[in-house]
Amino acid sequence: MASYLEITDDEKGHELSLFCVPKHYEEDLDRVIIPHGLIMDRTERLARDIMRDMGGHHIVALCVLKGGYKFFADLLDYIKLLNQNSDKSVPLTVDFIRLKSYSNDQSTNKVKVIGGDELSALTGKNVLIVEDIVETGRTMQTLLSLLTECNPKMVKVASLLVKRTPRSSGYKPDYIGFEVPDKFLVGYALDYNEYFRDLSHICVLSEQAKEKYKV
Ligand code: PRP
Repeated sequence: MASYLEITDDEKGHELSLFCVPKHYEEDLDRVIIPHGLIMDRTERLARDIMRDMGGHHIVALCVLKGGYKFFADLLDYIKLLNQNSDKSVPLTVDFIRLKSYSNDQSTNKVKVIGGDELSALTGKNVLIVEDIVETGRTMQTLLSLLTECNPKMVKVASLLVKRTPRSSGYKPDYIGFEVPDKFLVGYALDYNEYFRDLSHICVLSEQAKEKYKV
C-alpha cells in the first residue's frame, strides 16, 4: 500500500494573497491547497522511493500528457540527482503519451489516446508511468491494459495526486504524492479546459471560473 500525504476534507488551504499567483488568475481561484514548495519536497521523496524499488535496471519514464508534464520534469530531475550523486546509477530514458478524458469538469467516460510514441517500444522494459492525478482511475486502468499487450518487464505508476471520490474505481497507483479532497484542482499543469497549467501552486478553482472558462 503506497503512503502519501493526506490533504483532509476540512483543510482550508492558504489565502491566495500570501503567494505569487499570476494576475490573470487572481479572480478565478479560491485558495492555495498545495504550495509549489511542498509539491517539490514530496516529489524529492518519491524519487528516492522509486529509485529504491526500480533502481536496479534501466527505467523508461512514460509521461502522460498534458497534465503530467510538470510532475514528470521535476520527478526526473530528482531521480537524475540521485543517479549522479551515488555509486550506483541506472540509465533513464523518456517517452510520452497523450490521453484525454475530461471536458469542463466532467469525465467523458471515454479515454482517448491521441498521440505519443509506439507503445511497442516498451516491450521488455521497466516502465514508470508518471501522471498528475488519478480520479476515477479509468485513464490509468485503460493505459495499463494497453501496456500489458506490449509485455513490459515491470510497470509502476507514480501519480502526484489521488482524489478521494465516490467515483473512484478503487484503483491506486504504486507511488502517490498527495491524497486530495473531491474538489476541482488546478495548477502545476492540472488544467480546466487548458487554462491554469501556467500556475505553480495547486489551487481550488472557484465556481465562477468554471462558468467563465466553460467550452
Ligand atoms: C486528467 C488527468 C488524468 C485523468 C485522470 O486528464 O491528467 O490523465 O484526467 O482522471 P480519471 O482517473 O478519472 O481517468 P485529462 O483528460 O483532463 O487530460 P490532460 O492531462 O491533457 O489535462
